[in-house]
Amino acid sequence: MSVRAIISLVVLVILIESHESTPIPDGLRKVEEAFVKILGQSSHVLSFARFTHQYGKMYQNEEEIKQRFSVFKENLDFIRSTNKKGLSYKLGVNQYADLTREEFQRNKIGASQHPFATSKGSRRLTGRALLQTSAPSAKDWREDGVVSPVKNQGAACAASWAISATGAVESAYHIKHGVGRDLSVQQLIDCSSSHGTLGCIDGHPFQAFNYIKSEGINNATQYPYLGVQGVCRSNSDSVVNVTGYVAIPSFDELELMKAVGSIGPVSVSFGVSLSLQHYSSGVYHSSEHCEDILGIRQYGLAVGYGNEAGRDYWIIKNSWGEQWGDGGYFKFERGRNLCGIAVLPVYPIVD
Ligand SMILES: *[C@@H]1O[C@H](CO)[C@@H](O)[C@H](O)[C@H]1NC(C)=O
Ligand SMILES: *[C@@H]1O[C@H](CO)[C@@H](O)[C@H](O)[C@H]1NC(C)=O
Repeated sequence: MSVRAIISLVVLVILIESHESTPIPDGLRKVEEAFVKILGQSSHVLSFARFTHQYGKMYQNEEEIKQRFSVFKENLDFIRSTNKKGLSYKLGVNQYADLTREEFQRNKIGASQHPFATSKGSRRLTGRALLQTSAPSAKDWREDGVVSPVKNQGAACAASWAISATGAVESAYHIKHGVGRDLSVQQLIDCSSSHGTLGCIDGHPFQAFNYIKSEGINNATQYPYLGVQGVCRSNSDSVVNVTGYVAIPSFDELELMKAVGSIGPVSVSFGVSLSLQHYSSGVYHSSEHCEDILGIRQYGLAVGYGNEAGRDYWIIKNSWGEQWGDGGYFKFERGRNLCGIAVLPVYPIVD
């Protein structure tokens, strides 16, 4: 079978599936047959066929199919061998299973240095002192219905700082007013550079809060996400009022817990260790050197915390889509500033 025929087959399978005129297993069998012809018969090939079918993957030519299969195979072996170790978390096949670590890092995190690596002295943090409050022993703001849906930053924009910031404001607004908001991530990317952000390269949620405080923010329907930096076109229809933000003392996970437990979700960041690409469930921890604050960082939203089988964890909302991890979330070991999770946590104050 020619490569073109295989590609049309994959397209056809997807078309058939979306019209639901043929049962899916039949389509899958055709993809399997096509891949076996190119790659030979093995259980890895069948897993690869299921994976491409499930995530609607399209490859350019036979060469790319072979190359992606080889990456997939390596990832699958890594996932299986990690899962055999009986750790507190499981890895699994998700839509990123055909990307190498380098590609994943480039696509989903961005290749920039942390902006505060060189400008530590210049950050000005407003904020209150330690919270005079105690925190419940476990909390999950999703159960209160105040956490907005998980977003996907896409493959070309390291927008996690902006998605973390809008997520924090959306939750704060919901907690205060009892209704949700869907705020424009794209506006932050396009418009907030005068507050120190770098669009699709990097930024920090506190800079986003400063921008929203001075300029307001449109909702996502008015100013939708494109995933590349564009010309600023915000209008004056701001849908929330942010009056400031609070920075939690660095490296103090107890203060972070009090804030998450008693106030609401908090924007955090973490160094990305390599196996996180394949995270599926459980309390993630890492012995890799992900805590280096000079390295590449991803921003997320701490929406809760708890303890599972003796291991304390944070619940982090990520921005790699709902199909990644545990519905887009992951549990991250709490209590030893893993991967620099408590380097600079901030939450907005919403009117
Ligand atoms: C976004 O703004 C538009 C126009 O003002 C409005 O119709 C829509 O309901 C808003 N959506 C949300 C989720 O706030
Ligand atoms: C923001 O504050 C202004 C001034 O108090 C008020 O008029 C406006 O309605 C507020 N906007 C929102 C979305 O709450």
